[in-house]
Amino acid sequence: MRHFLDIADIPAADLRAMLEDAAAMKRARNGLPKGALDPDPALPGRALAMIFEKSSTRTRISFDMAIRQLGGASLVLNAADMQLGRGESLADTAQVLSRLADAVMIRAHKHEDVLDFARHASVPVINGLTDRSHPCQIMADLLTLKEHFGALEGLQLAWVGDGNNVAASFIHAAARLGLALRLGCPPGYRPREADLNLARQHSAPVAVVDTAEAAVRGADVVIADTFVSMGDANAEQRLADLAPFQVTPDLMELAKPQAVFLHCLPAHRGEEVAAAVIDGPRSLVFDEAENRLHAQKAVLKYCFGGPEPLNPEPDSAR
Ligand code: CP
Ligand code: NVA
Repeated sequence: MRHFLDIADIPAADLRAMLEDAAAMKRARNGLPKGALDPDPALPGRALAMIFEKSSTRTRISFDMAIRQLGGASLVLNAADMQLGRGESLADTAQVLSRLADAVMIRAHKHEDVLDFARHASVPVINGLTDRSHPCQIMADLLTLKEHFGALEGLQLAWVGDGNNVAASFIHAAARLGLALRLGCPPGYRPREADLNLARQHSAPVAVVDTAEAAVRGADVVIADTFVSMGDANAEQRLADLAPFQVTPDLMELAKPQAVFLHCLPAHRGEEVAAAVIDGPRSLVFDEAENRLHAQKAVLKYCFGGPEPLNPEPDSAR
């Protein structure tokens, strides 16, 4: 069993294998109804419990559909409705869920809580977003870019705005896979030094610049996210500080002519991105949202020892 807590923890070869597996599973079910099982369902009988301390549309639905297509079942749990919401410890909750489910995905306010949960669980634990990172999202983003450009190698990525949890997972991916990433963030909104240090340790071409323009110039991919993440205080101050970092059509003009736009969603048109960009021809945001499903299936299989299907036929039977 393996946890999926951060891209920073996963060897590059495993990340690449998961992306290949996600693409293959997407191809294999082309044309099937969304509720149909995969042609070769890899996780029959496995139950995934999901705990949400914060709201979710994509993460919740993509994981729910993912485990069903793989032949398993899901339980969606709001933390507030569980005894967790009345103070039961994460340690006890992790041990109980480990007896009743085969894997747990958790979206938590505090990253430390997910790490604590994983320490006490005896089944795989998946980070479904914390204040620090959003690794599942970046697997879907990498799949989307691989699909669009054919390969990740050689792409120049530009992150614009708040150096937040999603930015951190992009930095982790850049560190692991050697991707070129420039983050344009104003003072006070730079990514955490610990994440940048990881990139430095891997000699990954990751740089933080002060303006959106400097980040985007010559980029193949421009990425934005909300200026006010779940749990952030001082929304008005953040919107004012980050306003010059809106991705506008003029900003996109500085990127390469074939550059694309990514956003994990939910988006706020007129804040971090202009409607003309996110609803325009360079936007891949709905491919990206769909790819949450295919990427999450690869993550689930990885946690159960994949990417190859479980219980493969013995060599002699092939
Ligand atoms: N991108 C993403 O994680 O969306 P949800 O918050 O809707 O899950
Ligand atoms: N940075 C955003 C991502 C939402 C999917 C947040 O944490 O709210």
